[in-house]
Amino acid sequence: MRVMVTGSAGFIGGHVTEALEAAGHDVVGLDLRTGQDVRDADLLDTLLPGIDVVVHQAAKVGLGVDVSDLPDYAGVNVYGTAVLLAAMARREIGRLVLASSMVIYGEGRYECAEHGPVRPGPRTVEDLESGRFDPACPSCGTSLACAEIDEDARPDPRNAYATSKLAQEHLAANWARQTGGSVAALRYHNVYGPRMPRDTPYAGVAAIFRSELEAGRAPKVFEDGRQLRDFVHVRDVAGANLAAMSAPVRPGELRAWNIASGTPHTVGEMAGALAAERGGPEPQVTGHYRLGDVRHIVASAARARTELGFRAEIGFNAGVKEFAWS
Ligand code: UD1
Repeated sequence: MRVMVTGSAGFIGGHVTEALEAAGHDVVGLDLRTGQDVRDADLLDTLLPGIDVVVHQAAKVGLGVDVSDLPDYAGVNVYGTAVLLAAMARREIGRLVLASSMVIYGEGRYECAEHGPVRPGPRTVEDLESGRFDPACPSCGTSLACAEIDEDARPDPRNAYATSKLAQEHLAANWARQTGGSVAALRYHNVYGPRMPRDTPYAGVAAIFRSELEAGRAPKVFEDGRQLRDFVHVRDVAGANLAAMSAPVRPGELRAWNIASGTPHTVGEMAGALAAERGGPEPQVTGHYRLGDVRHIVASAARARTELGFRAEIGFNAGVKEFAWS
């Protein structure tokens, strides 16, 4: 197939491009780093004819610094996707694979022993200051056990990045309905692996820990280090994109899948595993917190397994061992 990859020089887009080429596809890459902007409608009109599927990875990522980031998230992620979709409609391209994110769910899914499933609101400063990191049941105040979130969960975006990713899904769904196109939205969990962005305010935790260790400093683990994430290797994510290109999505619809390893780990475990692989220094649990962070977010990987045939192949130990030195 002839595939356009936006963000092809980025972390995930680069791995997607390599996987596509290895599978014999013809890739047309587009990336701001090489001077091509997804918001350039004329450029898209030139490049899109003959494309079978667009794999849209170009985005401003990360949690962001503060509200000064809002225009950039909206401009790059929301407006960029709108320009792309309009160009796809003009050129009659009917298939989109969209890089979405688990951040659209907000705080994960929880169970109260007495009150059943609960979706708690944001944690208060008071709770965080006093070290009550686990969300409590709004009815009885007891600590909640976290459970796997599935794709039908109600979105609850809590920051500019999350909002922009959900907006991308909505815009893509509008495009699909109006053009009869189909969208495969991949809700990535915590992607890590070689060439992960580092040393920027937008870096993910695995890259931050790795940079600290490389500099001979202890990784700083926030909260109590027991917050759960699903760390999924970037080559597995690239494989999920290939599977999504031929996913069973009806014309006119958007279908979403969690792209996760299915085996969550704590942030403390990630720090400990990287430190052990590099021979120290030992991580420090700081108790520090970031207001925009959710406590736990773990995914059900079942829908991607049954519908895409996607199963993460690179386990935590092997993936972290490679990442520690890459
Ligand atoms: C990350 C991404 C988000 C992406 C999502 C799914 C970043 C900044 N966030 O969200 O864009 O959509 O995965 O792929 O890339 N922490 C520490 N020490 C540190 C830094 C962070 O303990 O030095 C903790 C945080 O408090 C949090 C956890 O590590 O509890 C994860 O943080 P982060 O890597 O920023 O990821 P997410 O917010 O889960």
